[in-house]
Amino acid sequence: MIKIAPSILAADFTKVGEEIRSVESADYLHFDVMDGVFVPNISIGLPVLKSVRDITDMTLDVHLMITSPANYVQRFAGAGGDIIVFHIEAETPENTINAIEQIHVLGKRAGLSIKPETPAERILEYIGGIDLALVMTVEPGFGGQEFIPGMLDKISKLRKVIDSRGLHCEIEVDGGINVETAKLCIQAGADVLVAGSDVFRSSDRIAQIEALRAAAES
Ligand code: DX5
Ligand code: ZN
Repeated sequence: MIKIAPSILAADFTKVGEEIRSVESADYLHFDVMDGVFVPNISIGLPVLKSVRDITDMTLDVHLMITSPANYVQRFAGAGGDIIVFHIEAETPENTINAIEQIHVLGKRAGLSIKPETPAERILEYIGGIDLALVMTVEPGFGGQEFIPGMLDKISKLRKVIDSRGLHCEIEVDGGINVETAKLCIQAGADVLVAGSDVFRSSDRIAQIEALRAAAES
């Protein structure tokens, strides 16, 4: 079953509670954290995550686009994140393993993400120990960018390894997802579709979430 994860980066923050309620028919709520160093943009962080946690039971999928994420995973888990995802490019191998363990000790799911120029092989080293592999299908930092088709091969590569080893790691894609690109990603083997602009710019979010599901499952 395909999962849809609307990204609140594209929501109207003057009424974020209402915005979240409008997408509760989705599976995860994607929460983008940017520090202005790892990516050239600054977004939201711990206090907002805590407030969001108080008003929804949705699975909170926290995407950390920050430097030294191992120093912060415990706090994001404590603030209510259910899935804590960080970038492999932002940590040393030792800290990556420790951070995954810390997340698991707190009873949360751990994910690793790769930027478009990072090969799938980097994430494959950890694939047996993580719950989610996030393939960026745009350069991280901004919503509303165009999908990079070259990322489809990376998704297929991960899918093959996950299936051949009988692993339960989900493959998530993030950036430029709409009904057309959703279908391509699912064909390549993705399980979770993050969609910011496509969902939040729609006047009927429930219908748009269903349209993404239908496109993916067709
Ligand atoms: C980009 C973020 C994405 C972003 C996706 O760095 O990680 O989650 O919100 O936005 P769209 O769906 O508009 O490309
Ligand atoms: Zn994201």
